[in-house]
Amino acid sequence: MIAFDKEKRIFKIETRNTVYVMQIVHDKFAAHLYYGKKTDGVAADYVERAVDFAPYVAEVGIGFSLETTPTELSFFDSGDLRDTAVKLQNANGDCTTLFYYKDYRIFKGRVEFDDMPYSRGGDETLELIYVDEVSGCVLHSYYTVFEQSDTITRYQRYENKGNAPLCIRQAASCQLELDDREWTMITLCGKYAKERNLVEYPAHLGIQRIYSKRGHSSHHFNPFMALKTKDTRENSGDAYAFEFVYSGDFESQTELTFDKKARVMMGLNRDTFAWNLAQGEMFTTPEVIMTYSACGLNKLSQNLHDHIRGYIIPSKFVNSKRPVVINTWEAVYFNIDENVLSSYAEKAKELGIDTLVIDDGWFGSRNNDSQGLGDWFVNREKFQNGLAAFSDKVHDLGLRLGIWIEPEMINPKSELYKAHPEWVLQCKNRPSSLGRKQLVLDLTNDEVINYIVDTIKRTLSGVKLEYIKWDFNRTLSEVGSLALPPEKQCEVKHRFVLGTYKMHKLLTQAFPNVLFEGCSGGGGRFDAGILFYCPQIWASDNTDPVTRMEIQKGTAFAYPISSISAHVSNSRSNKLEVSPDYEFRFNVALGGMLGYEMNITRLSKEDEEKIKRQVAKYDKWYGLLLTGDQYRLKVDGGEYAFVCVAKDKSEFLFVYQDTQNRQRRKLSLVGLDEKAAYVCENGNTYSGKTLHEDGIDVAVSKLPYGYFSCYGKRI
Ligand code: DGJ
Repeated sequence: MIAFDKEKRIFKIETRNTVYVMQIVHDKFAAHLYYGKKTDGVAADYVERAVDFAPYVAEVGIGFSLETTPTELSFFDSGDLRDTAVKLQNANGDCTTLFYYKDYRIFKGRVEFDDMPYSRGGDETLELIYVDEVSGCVLHSYYTVFEQSDTITRYQRYENKGNAPLCIRQAASCQLELDDREWTMITLCGKYAKERNLVEYPAHLGIQRIYSKRGHSSHHFNPFMALKTKDTRENSGDAYAFEFVYSGDFESQTELTFDKKARVMMGLNRDTFAWNLAQGEMFTTPEVIMTYSACGLNKLSQNLHDHIRGYIIPSKFVNSKRPVVINTWEAVYFNIDENVLSSYAEKAKELGIDTLVIDDGWFGSRNNDSQGLGDWFVNREKFQNGLAAFSDKVHDLGLRLGIWIEPEMINPKSELYKAHPEWVLQCKNRPSSLGRKQLVLDLTNDEVINYIVDTIKRTLSGVKLEYIKWDFNRTLSEVGSLALPPEKQCEVKHRFVLGTYKMHKLLTQAFPNVLFEGCSGGGGRFDAGILFYCPQIWASDNTDPVTRMEIQKGTAFAYPISSISAHVSNSRSNKLEVSPDYEFRFNVALGGMLGYEMNITRLSKEDEEKIKRQVAKYDKWYGLLLTGDQYRLKVDGGEYAFVCVAKDKSEFLFVYQDTQNRQRRKLSLVGLDEKAAYVCENGNTYSGKTLHEDGIDVAVSKLPYGYFSCYGKRI
């Protein structure tokens, strides 16, 4: 619900458990008052806080400075000398920016984007309208409420209504001012094969920024950030989170002033973004999802999970059973052979696996990673009767089929590059770096997008397909476009991301019943932008279950289990002394959507039986993993435990892993109905209260990789 108190000029945005309050002061400025728990005492009026040396707004008087005012948006070089959210370069060359609040609009639903991902739906929207009286630019600032998930989304739209062109130099999507509370920052950081580890550190004076300049959201920093107070725990205390619905360069930061007040901002990366705004043109920033929890980090994560499942992931797939795949990559790499794949399909059917995925290597001259990318034609040496015939064969066996693509990329050794070297991102007269022996297509150019989309559509038309894995295997560098004039080169990075979204839109529309899985050399593009098109994303190329525990724990802090693709493999990328067995690997894969990635035709009978049992268990449990509330449990280093509880608390799945030879006896669960009794798989019946207070027996048998899972149902 959004309300406006006309007398006090206070806006209140309410979700189920939170309230966001701001006030228009001195007729021109939107001051931030409060974001937190719903209480009666909220919405005290704004208090002036100017101090010596803070530039003050001359016409208002010495008491009022933008430097000391918590604002909804801050503007470059206009008296607020903290880091600011908005910077426009005026036609006269200066960058001084100042927007005054003018008006507002409250309306049902939201304004949808047609060129970028966004949160679908929304209960109600508040639009604040600001004007820069010098340039004539109008700034529309949007807040959309999603009451059920306790989330609010924010973005900005610039409209040049002046009589000269402008250049947007910085355009944060969201700013939030927080009081002095000893903040701890939580981010998801890593690198290739070690993505999204959960990292916490106390906020310190100055600016702490995470970012990507890599052209994708990256393996290094995820476009996600949370802040908690010193005393916040999993199930108690205050916390805020911000998630960017964007898949390219971003920045997200907290600035802490000497008096420990925090200003949080999230948006496009100012180092690699600028946008020319001619008279009459509009520019819209991507969206940020924002949430607050008064009862700890579990609730914070659940809000984000609910939001992503409810409003980001395409509704058609959100609650539908995901395929249990056998993926060819770690088994055969580029050695795709129709006959070998047929034997995989037969074995998969026996094991209960339902989808065969042909990974990289099925097209053009793609026999290794140095060639063939861009040539989206079936390799007829590998599929002598074509892909459609192979697909029919797989379907006749009762399996479904998936295939791998990497549409944004091209190898210099390809037919496409020979024909169109100008279709590659490049800077005139400079050599282009390679990444995995490949270059990047210029997606600022519609001709390139249409060619790739049409070719893939043609090649796959008539092939029965249920799944497509969409990869992206390099970081961008030397980012220029031969299709754009010099003054637009500063727009290429963002235009490229818009281009990839256009491709995603066209291909997902062309294959409406196909489930797309995102991927980027493992998990280099795991973000809410991709989830708008692809209901799940490959979390990492590291399938060693011990490293994977940390990757999935971090990922699930911000993204739901249903978005995390997790395969059981027999890789030993962690160089472990003892290889964890398939049961431990399966237990880890329960933190995501199950698949297999190994040579299933060479398993021992015993391992085959294990896999059959796993798939059967997963068949019973997947509904909970897709839709339940996930609670992380308090454990020690090297352990991971969570319980997934149905929304109506009628069932739960408890999952536990240990890598430290611990022989835990009991672990307390959370999130259950204390008054109810649950019958567990081990045949015992416990009350929810007992499971909370005394805990559940954790029967860890295998060392050093202990695992345990238990399903319980309310009786
Ligand atoms: C990187 C992906 O993460 C892998 O799973 C695999 O698809 C390879 N690319 C194929 O080149």
